[in-house]
Amino acid sequence: MYTRKEIIDILKDDSQNDYLFSLADKVRHDNVGDEVHLRGLIEFSNICKSSCKYCGLRSANSEISRYRIPKDEIIKIAQHAVDMGYKTIVLQSGEDAYYTTEMMVEIIKGIKNLDTALTLSIGERSFEDYKAFKDAGADRYLIRIETTDRELYKQMHPNMDFDNRLRCLKDLKILGYEVGTGCLVGLPNQTIESLADDILFFKEVEADMIGIGPFIPHPNTPLKDSSIGSFTLALKVMALTRIMLPDINIPATTAMETLNPNGRIIALQSGANVVMPNVTTTQYRDKYEIYPNKICINDNPDKCRNCIGAKIESIGRTVATGYGFSHNRDNI
Ligand code: SAM
Ligand code: SF4
Ligand code: FES
Repeated sequence: MYTRKEIIDILKDDSQNDYLFSLADKVRHDNVGDEVHLRGLIEFSNICKSSCKYCGLRSANSEISRYRIPKDEIIKIAQHAVDMGYKTIVLQSGEDAYYTTEMMVEIIKGIKNLDTALTLSIGERSFEDYKAFKDAGADRYLIRIETTDRELYKQMHPNMDFDNRLRCLKDLKILGYEVGTGCLVGLPNQTIESLADDILFFKEVEADMIGIGPFIPHPNTPLKDSSIGSFTLALKVMALTRIMLPDINIPATTAMETLNPNGRIIALQSGANVVMPNVTTTQYRDKYEIYPNKICINDNPDKCRNCIGAKIESIGRTVATGYGFSHNRDNI
């Protein structure tokens, strides 16, 4: 385990990167093994009431063509993913209140009937909503803190409240979800010190899953002229997270592969043990443009499943056949 000062020193010094990545790989191997868990990601709505400055789905972006996938179609997409062997479905969207509590409960129940674990990533909702979703069968929830630097959080999220984000994480924990959070790496004005604080925060909240993605500027956002996040720095934050939280689930993120054509494999060899391939029907993919040049936008669910399976096997790892619940929970 590293102290805050050690984490900062490691993040600032690139001379030991190879050692860091191989240590994180060993910690991953020793604690969660060689299996890679696939989570099939359904991006079911790109409509969002929020205005996160970095995100292409922000409400003020009028250039994007908006869509909502109807309930029955979402369940059909999930069925196809289960037929392809996925053991977890992830439902992700913008902050879209069109999907009421009742609608989400129906969708959750429909998907849980398919014998799969279910993760939600639909943003900030009330305790009552989170409870209804849990009671309907949802197993996990992803909601990144994005940054633990309160001042930076305010700059990046003009109409959001850091404390409400924390409240969401706390409610989800209380309700017994497996909780995933994470951060962006490379936001304008983000410091190395605050990234160290992010890693310490992940430990403090005892996250079950941490997703780390490099920031990629989107041309239709206020951050269009900002510098792109560093792949290597994002990989270092991820590797340190693995060392600090040895038995959690860590995805090799799509944003990493967007910056580096081999990014997910490199991440899997530097601490990651999860991949979240897109299982959304091709017709919607290019519209879920949170950042430009996102991978797989012209591909289909079957192609992605075969592609990622082959990549995983090419590095001597195997695709897991279980549900992939977090190792740091003994109640599931
Ligand atoms: N709306 C939900 C939320 O914000 O929690 C879920 C969907 S949101 C598109 C999923 C993640 O996309 C966010 O947590 C954020 O970290 C990431 N994201 C958004 N814009 C990005 C960008 N320009 N570069 C990299 N990641 C980005
Ligand atoms: Fe909406 Fe999530 Fe994008 Fe923020 S990150 S604008 S909440 S979709
Ligand atoms: Fe989509 Fe490779 S994962 S084509």
